[in-house]
Parts: sequence; structure tokens; C-alpha cells
Amino acid sequence: MGFQIAIDGPAGAGKSTIAKMVANRLGFTYMDTGAMYRAVGLLFDAQEKFPESSEEIRKVCDAADIDIRFIDGSQRIFLNGKDVSDVIRTEHAGNTASYVSTFPEVRTRLVALQQELSRTCDVVMDGRDIGTVVLPNADLKIFMEADILVRAQRRFDQLAEKGETPDMEQIIKDLEARDHQDRNRAVSPLKQADDAILIDTSDMDREEVTEEILRLYKKVKDGAL
Ligand code: DC
Repeated sequence: MGFQIAIDGPAGAGKSTIAKMVANRLGFTYMDTGAMYRAVGLLFDAQEKFPESSEEIRKVCDAADIDIRFIDGSQRIFLNGKDVSDVIRTEHAGNTASYVSTFPEVRTRLVALQQELSRTCDVVMDGRDIGTVVLPNADLKIFMEADILVRAQRRFDQLAEKGETPDMEQIIKDLEARDHQDRNRAVSPLKQADDAILIDTSDMDREEVTEEILRLYKKVKDGAL
């Protein structure tokens, strides 16, 4: 078992940007678990009828070939042999992922995959249930928060950078809906693990957050945390 850093928090708190930077600096593998839920969302979207009963959901999940590969240090996700890493990066895919992630059948399959992938390497893994469910014995657990308006602004900037014309009000509404769904679902809801350290990134830039996590990492290594 390598060194495990778990980063959880709501959408738009900066988890993936920071997790990637920390992984780069430490030479660890970055694992994006949200991408796996997004891929399952895509899979469900592609069915003639959106699966709803446990039996249908399990059938679709069992038949799917979900393959995670690390190419040049970055995670790529293949669904039935096709690289879907880029097409899952839309707001729609994020909202669908949030919905499908409420199904226990989906979570069981993906949690097993995440645990298997992280068994043999040093890892920074981000998501919603990493510190509570996927890696309960992680060496360092971070819970990353940020004010909703700050998170919305970051989303807005990301989308604008991609050439889209985002609607701020819609972004806030979507974030609120996702926060509500992720925090209130019955199975593994988003919550801070008892032993996770809270970092509010509202007034911090990405370099400051990365430095803070590297400082905490060093403390754990020195046995001071
Ligand atoms: O991090 P993200 O925006 O790519 O995640 C998309 C959705 O997937 C998120 O709203 C909830 C779900 N998710 C989850 O339930 N558990 C995880 N470990 C990661 C994501």
C-alpha cells in the first residue's frame, strides 16, 4: 500500500485542479473518481430507456466495460473500448453523474474499482466519499470547501475559457442542486470525515492550497500529524 491522500468536497471547490498539482509535485498518481461517475452517466444516457429499477441498473453496470488507464501520467477513461475522457466534461454530464451516483449498485461497482486501482501506488484521489468510504485509512484526508459564489465564478471562468457563454444564474442553480443531491443521498453522502482537515479555498489561490497540502503531507511523513 502506498501513501494515500484523499480529497473530498462539493463541486467547484477546486479539488481536481489541486489534486493534480499535489500529485505532480509529489510524483503520485492522480485519480479522478468523478470521471468514473460521469462515464456511468453517459452509459445510462445512451440506453433506450434510462434504467431505474435496481435490476436494470445492475444489468447495465455489469455489461459495461469501464477501463481506467494512465497515459503519460494522466487518467483516461474508456467506456466499452472508447475513450470518453473529454466528452464527459460537460455540465450535463456532471449533473447526470450526480444523479446516477445516488444508486447503490453504481457506487458498489465504482468503489471496488477505485480501491483496486489505488492498491499498488502512491495516490491523490478526489471525489465525495474518498475519506469516508473508498480510502477510510488514507494517510491524509482533506475536505475542501469554498463559498458558493466563489465556486460559481470558477465554473463560469472555466466555461468561458472553453469558448462557451455561461449563464451565472444557471451555474449557481446547478451547483445548489448538485450540493443538495450529493449531501443528502442515502448512500455515502458527501460529508467531512471525522479525521479530515478542512481547507476553505474561498480566499486562496491554487498555489496556496497546494502548498498547504504539501505542508500537511510533510507533517504526516514526520509523524507530527
Ligand atoms: O467531481 P465531479 O464533478 O466530476 O463529480 C460528478 C458527480 O459524481 C458528483 O456530483 C457526485 C458524483 N461523485 C460521487 O458521488 N462520488 C465520488 N467519489 C465522485 C463523484
